[in-house]
Amino acid sequence: MSMLDDVQRVLISEEELHTRIGAVAGEMNAVYSDEDFPILVCILKGAFMFLADLTRHLTFRHELDFMEISSYGKGTTSSGAVRILLDLAANIEGRHVVVVEDIVDTGHTLDYILRNFASRNPASVRVATLLNKPSRREVEVPVDYSGCEIPNEFVIGYGLDYAEQYRNLPFIGVLKPEVYEQEL
Ligand code: PRP
Repeated sequence: MSMLDDVQRVLISEEELHTRIGAVAGEMNAVYSDEDFPILVCILKGAFMFLADLTRHLTFRHELDFMEISSYGKGTTSSGAVRILLDLAANIEGRHVVVVEDIVDTGHTLDYILRNFASRNPASVRVATLLNKPSRREVEVPVDYSGCEIPNEFVIGYGLDYAEQYRNLPFIGVLKPEVYEQEL
């Protein structure tokens, strides 16, 4: 069975993603400048593809760094418990920071990141996410730049995985429920 056979439907096409990412970059280009330029922190692994496309649309000077965060549960929902697998290389004290996420779902991961970053005394922290699922929120978190609001469906592709697979799909798709139901 090919990966594509596991996709129920395309939710956001490659072309639409390109448009949305251009819009997010446009908002950021209007805010940031080469003076006091920010550091973008890509939250691995899911945000790698968004970061790669976003950074190419940004016209202001910026640095990149990476942080890997994992929730403990490995199912289709996040358990709320979060840990750092890879920490920042950079010192963000006094720096403007943009957290780059693929999706904000319950908000637990982002809440943890924002609390953790606050203790490092950055000059500012803003959040850019490709996808936002507000209907699933359990913790209130600020989202400054959002590509698309999506319904409560299990999405994969463009960096997002199920069981570490499907990240390479160039679109955001809905996974067929039978693919993850047989694992539950
Ligand atoms: C995903 C996603 C966010 C988080 C959002 O990461 O990249 O970081 O879940 O969920 P939440 O709002 O409910 O906390 P995941 O833990 O699946 O790791 P991955 O990016 O390496 O796939």
